[in-house]
Amino acid sequence: MVAPVSSLTEEQIGFFHEQGYLQVDAITTDDEVEQVREIYDRLFAEGSEHDLWGSKGGKDAKLPQTLYPSEYEPELKTSLIYKNAEAIAQDLLGPDTHLRGEHAIFKKPGSPSTPWHQDEAYWDPALHYESLSIWIPLQEANEDNGCMYFIPGTHRDGVQPHHHISNDPNVRGLEIDEADDSQAVACPLPPGGATMHHSQTFHFTPPNRSDIPRRALSLIFGREPKTLSTPRTFPWQQG
Ligand code: NI
Repeated sequence: MVAPVSSLTEEQIGFFHEQGYLQVDAITTDDEVEQVREIYDRLFAEGSEHDLWGSKGGKDAKLPQTLYPSEYEPELKTSLIYKNAEAIAQDLLGPDTHLRGEHAIFKKPGSPSTPWHQDEAYWDPALHYESLSIWIPLQEANEDNGCMYFIPGTHRDGVQPHHHISNDPNVRGLEIDEADDSQAVACPLPPGGATMHHSQTFHFTPPNRSDIPRRALSLIFGREPKTLSTPRTFPWQQG
């Protein structure tokens, strides 16, 4: 297997800042991937707190996710995944960069796509962020079961207009109004690999058309956000 990455080359750092995303083939070991997969099965056995595609979680959630999984499963905090992800985030954004959010996502067979969006569209429009997400699949991730897709360079033009999926305000998930995906890049990964994307990079995952669940961990890292002198308005967050 490939040795887990705990620091990036100048070339990788340059690629991230230019393109708004990056991928590495290993952020942890095969053994740890197994252990974290078991934690997932415990976390999701009783249903989930949230449903990105519906109004609430529970057993019938279409796209279940659990926020802050390490609060339920503290051993995650000392895992190689969390340590290496923080080191990589610090290489990309600087030494003051720390973990600011976590999601465990469980994409069952038949789960829908996560439409094109920018993560920052969910956040406080009054703040300036320097932030990125690291996404780690716990089995192979490919075009068939929902790997990440990015549109290179889209992190440079600010947050674009979004709406709730299906224009239904009860659906938590957001979708960008217009995304030209002709230049989209798919990032298939082996288990325990990782993609990194800037909080404004357009990204998408297709439906899970395979017959196994697609488990993925998403860790958000950033510097302390600053208050903007002129706050932005994100009308899709109102109402
Ligand atoms: Ni996202």
